[in-house]
Amino acid sequence: MNTSSISPPRLLLAPMEGVMESVMRDMLTRVGGYERCTTEFVRVSSTVLPAKVFYRLCPELKADGRTPSGIPVYVQLLGSDPDLMAANARVVAGLGAPGIDLNFGCPAKTVNKSRGGATLLRTPETIYDICKAVRDATPHTTPVTAKVRLGFDDDALFSRIADGAINSGIDELTVHARTKTQAYRPPAYWHRLRDIGNDRNIPIIANGEIWTPTDLLDCRRQSGCNAFMLARGALCRPDLGRAIAAYCSDTPQMPLEWQDIAELLVYFFEANGALYQRKYAINPLKQWLVYLQYCYPQAAALFAQVKRIRDPDDMLGALSKALNQPAA
Ligand SMILES: Cc1cc2nc3c(=O)[nH]c(=O)nc-3n(C[C@H](O)[C@H](O)[C@H](O)COP(=O)(O)O)c2cc1C
Repeated sequence: MNTSSISPPRLLLAPMEGVMESVMRDMLTRVGGYERCTTEFVRVSSTVLPAKVFYRLCPELKADGRTPSGIPVYVQLLGSDPDLMAANARVVAGLGAPGIDLNFGCPAKTVNKSRGGATLLRTPETIYDICKAVRDATPHTTPVTAKVRLGFDDDALFSRIADGAINSGIDELTVHARTKTQAYRPPAYWHRLRDIGNDRNIPIIANGEIWTPTDLLDCRRQSGCNAFMLARGALCRPDLGRAIAAYCSDTPQMPLEWQDIAELLVYFFEANGALYQRKYAINPLKQWLVYLQYCYPQAAALFAQVKRIRDPDDMLGALSKALNQPAA
């Protein structure tokens, strides 16, 4: 297909609790294609959090809020009290975060019970209040964005949710094109993004079920958006961002082979081991293999070999074998 007439899409890496952490953000942004990342959510429940909490979830704050390859990382906040969210946002902005994202989509029961995340989709006026309080409390040089779903049980309130967020003055809005009840089940209802009024004409970012370059073009056609957030697809295929960029500009791009992935796996394991304790690097590695097996059959075979491993040296040995290199 000749895609030379397609304007390049903006691609963002999604926030993913327990998965899209600093080492993964570093690797995926080095592979390329993404213009920004977002941390997993920081829960704001009753206090103004100390700086160390934000540094832990976003170590990039110590480096100008950017990944080693220079891609900005926004800090995501989740909470229901506008004043408290604003006070925490002020702290995050003061730490030099390149932007602040607000989570209105998390389906977790514990989060929803304390009136955070997706449960706020039932009260679009609260979404407005939180977005406005955070926007008003932070310097205008710090972009504030929000991430919503189409609704909680159904999408009847979607226009009000989107209007509430947009009219608050935020800078961009991401829509995960499913309700909370639809969780992560396909399909994503990309066409609903066309219904957003968007009088302020801010960028709308489409999210959900983008696994391939052709999915992205479908999403673009149905949603009318030119900015996209990738989550599980980016983990299954670490070069998805640059593959999409190459596809849309008709530039040939060598896909990552299994050997490249095996090198990333070793890096991931060792970098996480250096950041935490080595034993805590084992589960994230297994978790990533589960995603990778959708695109790389070798990842399924490797997962079968390592799924019972509990010892970091055994894990490194298995990885080195996958890389066809002797263990260090
Ligand atoms: C394991 C996991 C963790 C997630 N954590 C967050 C989070 O911390 N904040 C957030 O806004 N969305 C979170 N999400 C939702 C994703 O950002 C994204 O909206 C969703 O996965 C749909 O995109 P996809 O179909 O490309 O995966 C998470 C999703 C998954 C699967």
